[in-house]
Amino acid sequence: VASDTELSAMRRAIAISTAALGTTNPNPTVGAVILDQSGTTVGEGVTQPVGGDHAEVVALRAGADRARGGTLVVTLEPCRHVGRTGSCSAAILAAGITRVVYALGDPHDPASGGADQLRTAEVEVEAGLLADEAAAVLGPWTLALGRGRPHVSWKYAATLDGRTAASDNTSRWITGDEARIDVHRERYLSDAVIVGIGTVLADDPQLAVRDWPARRQPTRVVVDSDARTPLTSRVLDDVAPTLVVVAEGADATRVTALEEAGADVVALPRSGAGVDLAALLAALHDREIYLGLLEGGATLAAAFVRAGFVDRVVGYYAPTLLGAGVPLLTDLGIATMADAMRLKLDDVARIGDDVRIVAQVMTGSV
Ligand SMILES: NC(=O)c1ccc[n+]([C@@H]2O[C@H](COP(=O)([O-])OP(=O)(O)OC[C@H]3O[C@@H](n4cnc5c(N)ncnc54)[C@H](OP(=O)(O)O)[C@@H]3O)[C@@H](O)[C@H]2O)c1
Repeated sequence: VASDTELSAMRRAIAISTAALGTTNPNPTVGAVILDQSGTTVGEGVTQPVGGDHAEVVALRAGADRARGGTLVVTLEPCRHVGRTGSCSAAILAAGITRVVYALGDPHDPASGGADQLRTAEVEVEAGLLADEAAAVLGPWTLALGRGRPHVSWKYAATLDGRTAASDNTSRWITGDEARIDVHRERYLSDAVIVGIGTVLADDPQLAVRDWPARRQPTRVVVDSDARTPLTSRVLDDVAPTLVVVAEGADATRVTALEEAGADVVALPRSGAGVDLAALLAALHDREIYLGLLEGGATLAAAFVRAGFVDRVVGYYAPTLLGAGVPLLTDLGIATMADAMRLKLDDVARIGDDVRIVAQVMTGSV
């Protein structure tokens, strides 16, 4: 059973990892604390940007000789695989750590098993400490790795009566500056921002991180069966990488033109209303895109919801009415209240003069 000191150390590990969110993608943002034999903190660390050290190694280095015989408290099971960096379980054994307490298991196939390796080497291992709190930081990443598809947050801005654009298609700006800054933070935390071609044609959005101090740029993904993305689109500028996802058989000349304009183009099978969404998510996962932010529009978002590919909804509501206009979602095929999709309310916040509602889609609700 974990001691009070270990509980405090886990809280600290979660806090320092929360502060580092967005700096470690596509790696998980992990926090680690080293306690010496008397329970004094002698080192702490968070995952370094890609190619740098994992949290455990940073903390062990800080603890140096004082780590010997001590305890490692860490938000994610230490990895045992050698990827871009060395294995953490080997580093832990080399440092002489005798007890490891972690919050969440590592779902990553080649990596999982770190705990077993430590146990085999007679390190005492305890799993599951503050797992729910740690999942608030790492949950989307562990879900993505476990399921082999990105975790998807669907974000939209709407009027109080649920319109995302007026009937003449104008949609700028429904919400105010603070909400826009908040959206840029959501983008910054994501590996990709995903839109349908309808949104690119209607709004010509840039989809980059601008109004947020740290400007890590997610990949912009346009779902565009027939390669209709105009070559003058802002998503094709050089501010961030862009992936245009077309259907197999899309016009080769247009595909080449998009590639010459700097986009990466991938062709996937057709299914239903366009590109096969399961194939799309698998292709994103292959590119180490684990956290996706779906930014519309109503047609693509409804297809994602119907397929069960939305995990979290972030809605910004402006105290504005439009009456007629573009709906939030097109038809979901739900005809009666008993079949309504019920989400779990996570958070409600006032953002400037707008309201942000965050809800989670529970597995099995679609
Ligand atoms: N306020 C907001 O938050 C917000 C955000 C975004 C958009 N909007 C508004 O929404 C409107 C655009 O929405 P939209 O519904 O026309 O376009 P959309 O959802 O952005 O794009 C829909 C298009 O995506 C393509 N697509 C490819 N694969 C698909 C699949 N499996 N399922 C569904 N679609 C697929 C289809 O075109 P192809 O067949 O050519 O591939 C489809 O017509 C604009 O008025 C815009 O201002 C508002």
